[in-house]
Parts: sequence; C-alpha cells; structure tokens
Amino acid sequence: MDLPLLQELDDIGARARADLASAADEAALESWRVAYLGRRSRLNLILRGLASLPLDERRQVGAAANRLRQELEEALAQRQAALQEKAVTTTIETGRLDVTLPGRPIAVGRLHPVTQTLRDVLGAFESMGFQVVEGPEVEWDYYNFEAVRIPKDHPARDMWDTLWIDYRRDGEYPMLLRTHTSPMQIRVMEQTQPPVRIVSPGKCYRHEATDPTHEWMLTQVEGLAVDEAISMADLKGTLFEFAKRIFGPERRVRFRCDYFPFVEPGAEMAIDCFLCGGQGCRSCANSGWLEILGCGMVHPEVLAKVGYDFERYTGFAFGLGVERIAMLRHGIEDIRLFYDNDLRFLKQF
Ligand code: FA5
Repeated sequence: MDLPLLQELDDIGARARADLASAADEAALESWRVAYLGRRSRLNLILRGLASLPLDERRQVGAAANRLRQELEEALAQRQAALQEKAVTTTIETGRLDVTLPGRPIAVGRLHPVTQTLRDVLGAFESMGFQVVEGPEVEWDYYNFEAVRIPKDHPARDMWDTLWIDYRRDGEYPMLLRTHTSPMQIRVMEQTQPPVRIVSPGKCYRHEATDPTHEWMLTQVEGLAVDEAISMADLKGTLFEFAKRIFGPERRVRFRCDYFPFVEPGAEMAIDCFLCGGQGCRSCANSGWLEILGCGMVHPEVLAKVGYDFERYTGFAFGLGVERIAMLRHGIEDIRLFYDNDLRFLKQF
C-alpha cells in the first residue's frame, strides 16, 4: 500500500538527519529537538492522530512513526555526546585547560567544636540512662519564669538579662528568647509521670555584655531526674561521673552552695581552670575555677505546679553550659571565638 503519511515520515526523517548534522551547538540542538520531537512537531501530531486512521493504515504508519521517533531520539543523544567531547578536546588543544595541573582539593567540612562537645555530653548522660528531648527557643514567660518560681516583678528575674519578643498580650510581653533550658523541666513533667530521666539540649539567649566567659547566645543542657527517694547524693554521683567521663579522672571538681528559685538546696559545680591550673588568670576571672553548671533538688512547689505528688517524689535538676565545657576540654581562652566564624580557629578541631 502506498500511503501519503509513510512518504511524509520518510521526508521528515531525511530533513531531520540533515538538520542534525549541521547543528553545531547546544542551542541549535535544542531548536532541533523542539522542531522534530517537540509536542507540536509534525511527527508528534501524526502519532497523536493514529487513532483516527483505518486499522491497517494505523498499524503501518504507527510502526513507522514510532521507529522514526526512536531513531531521532538516539541520533540526538549521540550528537549531544559528540558535541560535548569536541568541546573538551578543543579546550585542551587551545591550551585553556592544562590537564597536567594538580587537582584542587575538595574542602571537607567538620562539626563545630561546640556541636562535638554537645554530642559527647549527651552521649555521657545517655549511657547513664537519660533520654534526650528538645524544646522551643522562643518560649512563654510562663515556662521560662513563672512555672520555675520566678514571678513577675520579683528580683530573681534580675539574674537573667532577657530578650523579649515584640508581641503583646494584655498589655504585656509574654514571649521571650529563653534564657535557660529549665523551662523544659516543666514541659516534660506536664507531659509525663515519674520516673523521669531526661537531658534537654539547646540554645539560650541573654542580653549580656560579652567577656571571655560570657556570650549572649549560649548552649545549655538541662538535666532532670524525678523518682521516689532521689537525693542530693544521686545528684552529686551523677555529676561526678559525668565530669570524669568528659574531663578525665585527674580534673578537680568543686561544689558550692548557690541560689536558683526552682531548686532547694541549690549548688554550682566548677572545674579547676585549665589555663592556670587553679592559680587564677584572666580566663577564670582570677578565681582558679570555671563554673560549668547550676544544679539542685527540684523545689516541691515546682513539682506541685505540674501536679506531681511531692510527698512521694523528689528530683534533681542541673543546667550546664556547653561552650564552657568545650573551652575546658580544648584550652580555649575566650568564648567569643566560637561564634566569630573564623575558619583558622574552627579548623583546629
Ligand atoms: C541557669 O541557667 C539555671 N537554669 C541552671 C539550673 C538548672 C540550676 C537546673 C538549677 C537547676 P546559670 O545562669 O548559672 O543557671 O547558667 C548555667 C550555666 O550556663 C553556667 O554554669 C554556665 O556554664 C552557662 N552560662 C550561663 N551564662 C552564660 C553565658 N552568658 N555565656 C556562656 N555560658 C553561660
């Protein structure tokens, strides 16, 4: 059977092959693809119109059109590869690419020293049975202050220089960048019943005049354990074990009384200064010690506030500064180096 559509397909094939041979760059190849294989190309129209042809004609034209489409697609791919190869050869021949030059090394990233220390700190507590939970950095006044016994207008708020969020409700600003991770104690206890054993890492923010040991953004890890018969001895045992795992057995640890409204009794833990060995220097403000955490027994009023039976349950809590620990581990004199983003500093870890 001599069909006009078969003849037309032959013509399309001949034209397409000739045009492809003279297409000399990427743009020409793309125009060629649109013209011969695109949605509005004659070939595509013939393929789309197959259904309306009589059966016998449909078979012959369909087979020929599909063959042609496959042939043209393969020819296009070959021509693209040939053009790319030619482009590389030309670059080498014209001297624009010197293949004898040594390769450029790929810059390999690494974890930030604070992240490395944070992971080790969490790992130490996880191996002691603590579970890791995370919470919001933008926090309600209620969780950051009220629920941990720091009511409005109470002088205890002066211990934290606070960055408030510019959002008002009832004439007040009830949201802030959290000043510590202690609000997570409340969030966890509201959601779970004892026994509780969690650590909660995250960034905290303070309206702070910076110095070698104070940043306005700091990383804390909160710890909380609540169960029957938990005592101060459990708190000290856990934190001594932590210090041994992170700093080694030779580092000296000091506990002193401290005040936090949400614990009773409260304490701070310090490690002897790595730089002066306890003699006193700029990094430890001449004290010979670097405070790394605050801690204490959870105040019964805090337990009552979340609905725990404080006659039955007791707990301990702590909040440690990860940057301070990274400083002690690596002998870093100034906390501000961590967030200067100077690669010469960061590459050392
Ligand atoms: C608190 O933030 C209490 N929430 C800790 C706590 C938790 C006490 C649970 C009792 C029970 P403090 O403000 O002292 O406490 O901070 C805790 C630790 O965070 C400090 O020991 C220190 O290691 C670190 N830290 C505090 N302020 C800064 C700062 N500006 N820059 C770097 N690290 C800081």
